[in-house]
Amino acid sequence: MNNHQGNQERFSLHGQWSSRMTFILAVTGSAIGLGNIWKFPYIAGDNGGGAFVLIYLICIFVIGFPIMVSEIMIGRKGRRNPITSMKILGLEEQGSENWKWVGLIGLMAGFIILSYYSVIAGWTLHYFKMSLLGELSNLNSESVQTIFGELTGSAITQLMYHTAFMAITVAIIAKGIKDGLERAVKLMMPGLLFILIVLLFYSILQGDFMAGVNFLLMPDFTKITSQSVLAAMGQAFFTLSLGMGCIVMYGAYLPKNESIIGTTTTIIFCDTIIALLAGLVIFPIVFQFGLKPTDGPGLIFLTLPLAFNEITGGYIFSGLFFILLAFAAITSALSLLEPSVAWMIENKNYSRGKSALIIGVLIWLLGFLSIFSFNILSGFTFWKGTLFDNFDYLASNILLPLSGLLFTIFASWIMKKENSIEELSDVSRRVYKLWRFGARYIAPIGVILVFLNAIGII
Ligand code: PHE
Repeated sequence: MNNHQGNQERFSLHGQWSSRMTFILAVTGSAIGLGNIWKFPYIAGDNGGGAFVLIYLICIFVIGFPIMVSEIMIGRKGRRNPITSMKILGLEEQGSENWKWVGLIGLMAGFIILSYYSVIAGWTLHYFKMSLLGELSNLNSESVQTIFGELTGSAITQLMYHTAFMAITVAIIAKGIKDGLERAVKLMMPGLLFILIVLLFYSILQGDFMAGVNFLLMPDFTKITSQSVLAAMGQAFFTLSLGMGCIVMYGAYLPKNESIIGTTTTIIFCDTIIALLAGLVIFPIVFQFGLKPTDGPGLIFLTLPLAFNEITGGYIFSGLFFILLAFAAITSALSLLEPSVAWMIENKNYSRGKSALIIGVLIWLLGFLSIFSFNILSGFTFWKGTLFDNFDYLASNILLPLSGLLFTIFASWIMKKENSIEELSDVSRRVYKLWRFGARYIAPIGVILVFLNAIGII
């Protein structure tokens, strides 16, 4: 294989997806996760609701769409982990190795995100256990706060679940992602959607539905600040798994004949629907029970147990819900881990198992800091708040948009036009031009403006 022959098809070292469906499922599995159901409602709540949601949707379509297409394209052309793909393509297209740093920023972001993501996923496991043991019954708005406070107050309990979640993630990645992943996503997506719809009915019938809808969908622009615009953009990157290299990584396993634009459309559509649905379930309950939309990372753990509590057979639904959410988190966690592991296999020649274990342990250790942010280190705050707050802010609002920006600049400015035309050869000329315009101008300018605005320059 010759790395410098741009138009020759390279092959991935780790195999390919068995079908277009598997790829869509894997990327959808990566995109849909705690970001949609846990993070989106609480960030929307913290940032005033409707106007935030509007800006978030604009970011998804105007910035997220062209960037996702760019990332898949880079992955499929590079066929390696994000760092190596960027290095190879940088050399081919521009004679420069430096593009590898973009992949590195992404990998770092993934490292940080997985360290706290696993802690929150651990919370869902704890709520699953409590549902099964019937410990989530006869609740009111005070007792849900107590239960949540007991969990976050205990470093040991969180450590246990964090360890379990990381162990599962490492074990699946160590086996290679094809079988486990495909099966998990096929089962879990429809299940999660089903329970969300049941909960939506509950919210419509029992919650203060109109208050929830107004909060989520009626923009009140007085509540918009430069920080909330940055948060909306960060959330768009986070929820679509962009800027981290995992879409590049999954793109590396995509067969040449699949449509990049077609799959991107499906993935973005599913991800957005699930987030909005989660919001429509949560906020009516928030208002009905006198909770606050600004309750932060605990929001779903306060509202959903209250709702399940009131549904006949609610504990079954609640158990199912939390375990499905944990599954959704696992399929995202896999995509957070895979790029670093692939990098280690390709560059250090370690086995898949050893690589997964080494990186998994490092991330697991870093996760301790997020756990402690909720208890022994809760008083230790700087910059954006606790260590957990800072990790999330740094990764979602800075690192993801930054490397997403550079990925899209690479695909649309540096990559030769005939190469990107070849990657997108299934769509019409007009659609191609639209992508290129979005990727060259709209997305980069959007990201830069939001950055400048957030640091107070404009
Ligand atoms: N998109 C995932 C979610 O919404 C999280 C994630 C972020 C996964 C970045 C991969 C990369 O839960």
